[in-house]
Order: sequence, then structure tokens, then C-alpha cells
Amino acid sequence: TAYNQPFRPQYHFSPRINWTNDPNGLVYYDGEYHLFYQYNPKGIRWGHMTWGHAVSPDLFHWNELPPAIAEDEKGMIFSGSCVVDAKNTSGFGKNGQIPMVAIYTNHRETNQSQHLAYSLDRGRAWTKYENNPVIDVQKKDFRDPNVFWHEPSKRWVMTVVLPTEKKAVFYRSANLKQWEKTGEFASADSPGNIWECPALLEMPVAGSKRTKWLLLMSIGAGTPAGGSGMQYYIGDFDGKSFRSDFKQGDVRFVDYGKDYYAAITFNNTPRKISLGWLNNWQYANDIPTNPFRGAMTLPRDLKIVQSKNGYELRQEAAREIRPLTSDSFQWRGLDTKELNRSIDSNRIKGDAYVLTLEAELPGQTATGDLGVKVRKGAGEETIVGYNVARQEVYVDRTHSGQTGFKKEFSGRFSAPLKREDSPNGRIKMQIFVDRSSVEVFVNDGQVALTNLIFPKPASQGFEFFGDGFRAVTIRNIESVWP
Ligand code: FRU
Repeated sequence: TAYNQPFRPQYHFSPRINWTNDPNGLVYYDGEYHLFYQYNPKGIRWGHMTWGHAVSPDLFHWNELPPAIAEDEKGMIFSGSCVVDAKNTSGFGKNGQIPMVAIYTNHRETNQSQHLAYSLDRGRAWTKYENNPVIDVQKKDFRDPNVFWHEPSKRWVMTVVLPTEKKAVFYRSANLKQWEKTGEFASADSPGNIWECPALLEMPVAGSKRTKWLLLMSIGAGTPAGGSGMQYYIGDFDGKSFRSDFKQGDVRFVDYGKDYYAAITFNNTPRKISLGWLNNWQYANDIPTNPFRGAMTLPRDLKIVQSKNGYELRQEAAREIRPLTSDSFQWRGLDTKELNRSIDSNRIKGDAYVLTLEAELPGQTATGDLGVKVRKGAGEETIVGYNVARQEVYVDRTHSGQTGFKKEFSGRFSAPLKREDSPNGRIKMQIFVDRSSVEVFVNDGQVALTNLIFPKPASQGFEFFGDGFRAVTIRNIESVWP
């Protein structure tokens, strides 16, 4: 079928053919999740940016529709967001129809400005607003508007970035057409070169009646794994401006893998769900997939918790994954050799599954390493582990398969996790493996690591290493493609 190549994700979205980067305009409306995405309708490298479009009833089974908003003589269609204008504040709705309104960046070599387009038929046909742009500050770099309805002030709020100045700018509007600037946010300790693709949202603090505001920010370079990735801030937003609670020097990363970028959240959903691009600008144009290039990450359920480290973001695979899974292996025991024998004797193999493990961490002063090698085959393995001495979770893709297409691809990527931050002296990992990716969530979403891999199709083995394993499960994940 169209979705059955060796590196074709089986439960992640990728376009049937051609290039994609950022998810855009994530919104739920009338029984459908909409995923728009940066798309090149003419090729397998970045260019001719257009909003591609897919819809899904459940965040996993996507139906790719014709591109929604195409480049024209005014420019390319860069990233942005989409809202359901239920009260027809924009006046785009006719005869009681509710308009969906896309707010995107129009890109020309010398200018980026914010534009609108609307749809009156559930996102199928789009009309560009005749009085575009709605915001133009006469700058070359000014992009990625993220818009939501702010009920207390009864206004639309836009967060948009001045990428090279590493600044987020806030605007508000009653009708999506006239915008008033209300504030700015910058952060002296943000590493890297540019800011892109902001997302601002209000979230409950787990176990309390309070809410806090989360600001997601993509940064073009300077992440722990190298290259592009994401930071977050937690603080307050008063309808005009955002203030972070984090102290100077307290830099938080969304994901410690190398391939998590441009994630934004769905508008119009009760739960907060994010989706990102499973890639890194260091090599995005070179990854060895065909006839498509680029895929989305797992959708994630987001939570804010308060711990002794202050407010923290927690991320887990969106719960809609569960119906796609079926048990294939379960083990409880004490001995790693016996675990590996059990894997072998049951001939457990796979390239699309979720593996969970729970292990007891050795004593405070111990050293050592524990974890599992996945997508293992002739000369290939991707290692997921916890290094006790270094107190870090890591993914090593040095021997994961094809790595030589760009020198920045190969490597070992790690996230700090103090022993005492693992509840009850145990570590839990959830490892989602697909045909070309490994996403690791540790301790119910304390830490996330997302990475691409390009192993041989036949590399489907497992091998556990280290001690302390108590429980392991492997569940197959069925393909979402027809
Ligand atoms: C992020 C980004 C955005 C821009 C888009 C262009 O990956 O650079 O800032 O809108 O991609 O495709």
C-alpha cells in the first residue's frame, strides 16, 4: 500500500508523498481532529510551503486530504494556528455557518506578516482574507502566530515570535482582523540562535484547583542533544503578557532526544494535547526515507505538576493509543538472563510496539547501567538505558542502522534524572518503537526522549542488560494505515 515502506511510520502521521515539517493549525471541530502541516506539494525537500491537511477521529487514524492553503504570488504559507470562531466574531460566517479561521505567516524573502484564511465547510475549502496582512511590522523575521480564545478578557490572544531577537510578542483582538500589541516575553538564558513556533496555554495544576500557563518554545539550536529542539516556561498570563516563574538559569527542555520540534497544542479540546515534528533541522532534508520525508511525533497528553523542583511539565502518549495495542509479552521476575531467554524462547520480535519496563535501582553508591536494546539485528541496535552513576536516561543510536547521511545524526543523547526523583527507588520506562523512531517516556512522563532511527527492516530483536528488572510488557501496536 501507499504506507508500507521500510521506514514508514505505522502509527505516526506522515504524508503519503513529499516533504513535511511543522504541524500547523491543530484544532478539534465537529468530531474531527485537524492536522495541518508545512508541506511541499512539489518535492521531497523543503520548499513551496503550503498547508497540507489530514483529519482524524482519534488522533491516530489520519485521512490525508488535498492541501488546504497553497502558496501564491504573495508568498509561501508558513506555520500558524487555527481556531473555531463559534461566535462568528470575524464575520466570515455566512447564514449561521461557523467559520474555521487559520492564522498563518505569509513568507517573502524580505518580509513575514500574519495573514488569515477561513473555511465554511469544516476545513475542506479555504478562502484567503482579502485584506491580508492583519499584522505587518515590516520585519524579515516575524512568524508562527499561535491564537486561542481568552475567555476572561473575551478576546483572541496571539503569541508570535521575532525569531532572531528571541522574543515572543502578544497581541489581542476582538475579531481576528484588528490586532493590538499588549506585551512581550524574552528570556536571557535561552540557549541557541532563534525562537520559533510558540504555544501558550492555560493548564490545571494536577491535584489542585489552580491553573498555570505553559509557554512552549522551539529553539533553532543549542539543545542538550544538539541542533533544534524545545524549551518550556511555566508562569502566569493576565490576558496581555506572560511572566515566567522560573529563576534565571533554570532552563527546562521539553524533550531530551534529538528529534522533537515545533510542537504546538490542539485548540478546542478539553484535554491539552500536543503534537510535534519528529525531526531536527540539522539533517531534516537528508534523512533516507522515500517517497515521503518527515513525520509527526506521538500526540502527547500534557500535565503540570508541582514537585519539589517547582512546577514541571509531564508528558505521556495520548491515551487514544491504547485501543491500538495488544499484549504480546509479559514477564515478572528477578533475573535478566531468564528475561532474555524468555524473549528468545517466545520468539518476540517487532518494529511497531510499546515496551514497558520497571526496574529497581541499585543502592545510592552503585554504578552500572540497565536498559534494553531494541531494533536489534545484524550489527544494529538502539540502546535505551539508565546510567546509575551518571544519573541519566539515554538513547544511543550510534549503531542503530543508517546514520552516515549527515555527520550530526549519530550519537548518544541523555536526560538528567536524579536517583531520588524516581519514586520508590524504581524506574519505569515506556518505549514506543516504530519503523523509524523511538520515543521514551520515563516515570509517567517526567522525562521524554524522542529520536529517529533507520534500521534494517529485519532488525527486530530485543536484549535486556543490567540488573533489577521486575516487570516487562511488550504490546504490539497495529498499523493505522489502510
Ligand atoms: C520551524 C519553521 C517555522 C516556519 C516554518 C517554515 O520549523 O522554521 O518558523 O514557519 O518552519 O517551514
